[in-house]
Amino acid sequence: MDPVMGIISVFWLMLPAYLANPFAVFTGHGLPVDMGRSIGGKRVLGDGKTWAGLIGGICGGVLIGLLMMAIMDLTGEPLPIYCSEPHGIMLLFLISTGSLMGDLLGSFLKRRLGRERGARTPILDQYDFVIGAWAFLAIFQWGWFRENFVDDPRYLGMIAVLIITPLLHRLSNIIGFRMGQKEVPW
Ligand code: CTP
Ligand code: MG
Repeated sequence: MDPVMGIISVFWLMLPAYLANPFAVFTGHGLPVDMGRSIGGKRVLGDGKTWAGLIGGICGGVLIGLLMMAIMDLTGEPLPIYCSEPHGIMLLFLISTGSLMGDLLGSFLKRRLGRERGARTPILDQYDFVIGAWAFLAIFQWGWFRENFVDDPRYLGMIAVLIITPLLHRLSNIIGFRMGQKEVPW
């Protein structure tokens, strides 16, 4: 596989991880995951992490993956597809859940650092969900993760993801803010 194809395929496989977050933003409301509890006077996660957003985000990521499978079925493109795996749905569940667990962990760390909900926190805000998605895949499906993300030339895709994600993050937050879904443009 040539390097450009390797990079494209990593971004393609990351789509559910990227899109799980906007789904969480659109579906999020109501009961917070931490049930309003605090540790040492600071919220465990904060009101920005809700059960509805968590479940909506995971379902959204899986849905996007199913759509990707359908598109690949129609076009017969040679991009790696989740459905070429007997455990495709499980992979989608892992990458979407990992993405949102990374987001939760990010908020947990932000609260420990004393940052209020929505406070801008570089690195954590931009990479928490990427790291979460990769960690879940690496822990629970190492063979598949290595083959599709790590083996030459796919690791170039991981590097590209690390470079481009902060830009995508900024762009999506500006869009979310303009649409009135986010309280701050970051
Ligand atoms: N959201 C949610 N549940 C989640 C993730 C996100 O309800 N598990 C919704 C919330 O309405 C949240 C919005 O999506 O305010 C934007 O998500 P994010 O930027 O991750 O949360 P913040 O409000 O910025 O909170 P934090 O400082 O903890 O990141
Ligand atoms: Mg935020």
